[in-house]
Amino acid sequence: MSWTAHSCFVTLAILFLWRVEEIAEACSCFPTHPQEAFCNSDIVIKAKVVGKQEIEVGNNIYGSPITRIRYDIKQIKMFKGPEQEIDAIFTAPYSSLCGVSLETNGQHYLITGRIDSNGEVHVTLCNYIRPWETLSTTQEKSLTQHYEMGCDCKIIPCSTIPCMTSSPAECLWLDWVLEKTVNGKQAQNFSCIKRSDDSCAWYRGSEPPRKDFMDIEDP
Ligand SMILES: *[C@@H]1O[C@H](CO)[C@@H](O)[C@H](O)[C@H]1NC(C)=O
Repeated sequence: MSWTAHSCFVTLAILFLWRVEEIAEACSCFPTHPQEAFCNSDIVIKAKVVGKQEIEVGNNIYGSPITRIRYDIKQIKMFKGPEQEIDAIFTAPYSSLCGVSLETNGQHYLITGRIDSNGEVHVTLCNYIRPWETLSTTQEKSLTQHYEMGCDCKIIPCSTIPCMTSSPAECLWLDWVLEKTVNGKQAQNFSCIKRSDDSCAWYRGSEPPRKDFMDIEDP
């Protein structure tokens, strides 16, 4: 099995079940370091949700409507994305179909997502979406700086020891192995940054990297 940032495996083995929401655990995603989420997303914004609506987008082969949830959002800040403001995001109606459930109570979120060919923003449970208040200070600051600097680097999640990188442009993400959480030290306080010799290394904190970090000579 390979670890890819965007892997979203939807297993709908029992399609004839008419209550799709009863299929537990049908959506599962590989965990993503917030930097990988930033680099692999079309949009990264801070926003609040101001409305929620179920819309019909077509019919399935039995003639039943296929629905989506449309969240109307108020964009507060864009970290990555097209020139225009995002005012709505779309997701599947059930978590079993990887649909995301968001609060419309004014809570601020970090939202990452994909833009489709019609220019609509789509989000799934596999996207990195968090209440803004749960982000660390370093994560907040890295959204405007460090994550982008590290997009030529690859963060390799390690789930069981031993893990190895296959190129100097990779950082090993060890939170799960060391702390049994995907929201550990490296997720909260580190970014993986490319240095002058094209190697990548974990960099702690939110200040710009010092020259001696960037100019490292030893591999
Ligand atoms: C991240 O850094 C902050 C500030 O130094 C610290 O309080 C916090 O415990 C760190 N988080 C982790 C998971 O190590």
